[in-house]
Amino acid sequence: MENANGYDIIFCGFPVLAHSVPGKVQPFIKGLSGEQKVALFSTYGSLCGGQPPKQAFEHAISIASKATTLGHFGCRGSVDPKIIETLMQKSEHRAWAQEAQSAEGHPDQGDFEDAKKFALEMIAKIGS
Ligand SMILES: Cc1cc2nc3c(=O)[nH]c(=O)nc-3n(C[C@H](O)[C@H](O)[C@H](O)COP(=O)(O)O)c2cc1C
Repeated sequence: MENANGYDIIFCGFPVLAHSVPGKVQPFIKGLSGEQKVALFSTYGSLCGGQPPKQAFEHAISIASKATTLGHFGCRGSVDPKIIETLMQKSEHRAWAQEAQSAEGHPDQGDFEDAKKFALEMIAKIGS
């Protein structure tokens, strides 16, 4: 998306890659500014509440500093077992890749319900 002007709220989602925001998404987030209100969401393979997803959100919020971040939501996303096997061989990926083995089946019904709740909360924020 080249131009995100004229929207009341922008939901911007990304998969956590290498503990961070994918390089292709970063210019879009950095380009948000002024009155633009953004709600961030992401999927990740590691366990809920772990350090890598937190780190990725902190990075996303820091590069969205010219806009207003209303909130963020994350949930687990399943990772192809072949990718897990490959990345387990690399020391920088081993920890999250190990955890990602139990992410199969996510996002699940509970994740979708949490995501819906998050979306409604974000929309309520722009109404107030
Ligand atoms: C190259 C690569 C790097 C990844 N790095 C991380 C990571 O650092 N931490 C993590 O929790 N998940 C990591 N993942 C898992 C992705 O976040 C996961 O595949 C994605 O969120 C699934 O999203 P989807 O369900 O929307 O397809 C990585 C996946 C790939 C392919």
